[in-house]
Amino acid sequence: MSKRLEGKIAVVTGGSAGIGAECCKLFASEGAVAIAADMNPPSYEAPGVEFVKLNVTDPDNCKQVVDAIVAKHGKIDVLVNNAGITRDALIQKMTDDLWNAVIDVNLKGVFNMARLIGPLMMEKGSGSIINISSVVGEFGNIGQTNYAASKAGVIGMAKTWAKEFARKGAAVRANAIAPGYIMTDMMKTVPQDLLDKFASLTMLGRLGQPEEIARAALFLASDESSYVTGHVLSVNGGMRL
Ligand SMILES: NC(=O)c1ccc[n+]([C@@H]2O[C@H](COP(=O)([O-])OP(=O)(O)OC[C@H]3O[C@@H](n4cnc5c(N)ncnc54)[C@H](O)[C@@H]3O)[C@@H](O)[C@H]2O)c1
Repeated sequence: MSKRLEGKIAVVTGGSAGIGAECCKLFASEGAVAIAADMNPPSYEAPGVEFVKLNVTDPDNCKQVVDAIVAKHGKIDVLVNNAGITRDALIQKMTDDLWNAVIDVNLKGVFNMARLIGPLMMEKGSGSIINISSVVGEFGNIGQTNYAASKAGVIGMAKTWAKEFARKGAAVRANAIAPGYIMTDMMKTVPQDLLDKFASLTMLGRLGQPEEIARAALFLASDESSYVTGHVLSVNGGMRL
């Protein structure tokens, strides 16, 4: 069987760690050039994965990075908007700084990248954009007003781009993945009793691994999902919050 992303150029924001890192490694193993676009260098080395320094909150930096990738590789086929952060607090304690930090990375950063790359895909006639949302964007969560707003927002943006970028016959698809609780660095600050509670809220009785999200991203990135767009794929072990 031929590799599922042979010849594709895939940009994964936040590709240096966690879910983004597993996406990069899996995409590269399926024949893509995977570009880990991250503020920090990767925590791993893998053939086929390139690192570029990127802060998704900075529109000028996004433009420089996208221009450099297109100059080097000629195109971008896949964009995974994965870079994300949390800054949790109950709403009455949520400062403007906490709100702005999360919205800047998780929402504005996604906008910054898709505004540049979506039109390029449209011009090329094909592409796949994947926004990494969250079970929290679907159901809400105590202490996460900022995060829930950003993760619901990226679902709205994916659905909008599924319409906007598919105009004029372009086969550009846009989808979201809503992961449940996945064991990455992001979970390091969550107390064990809460993690156990989250596991008990899933039908499968466990938390997820970043590889399990990467496999869903591979499906949406590849032509195997050629008729899937404007969709939210929940990958959460059957979790209900
Ligand atoms: N881990 C989970 O349980 C979980 C659940 C649902 C959704 N998500 C989402 O999945 C995505 C990845 O999460 P993770 O758990 O792998 O996180 P992580 O903290 O392990 O990795 C996030 C990566 O994003 C990078 N990053 C942060 N800010 C950036 C910026 N401004 N510009 C560029 N890169 C930046 C970090 O350097 C890091 O490499 C996030 O959007 C997160 O909200 C995670």
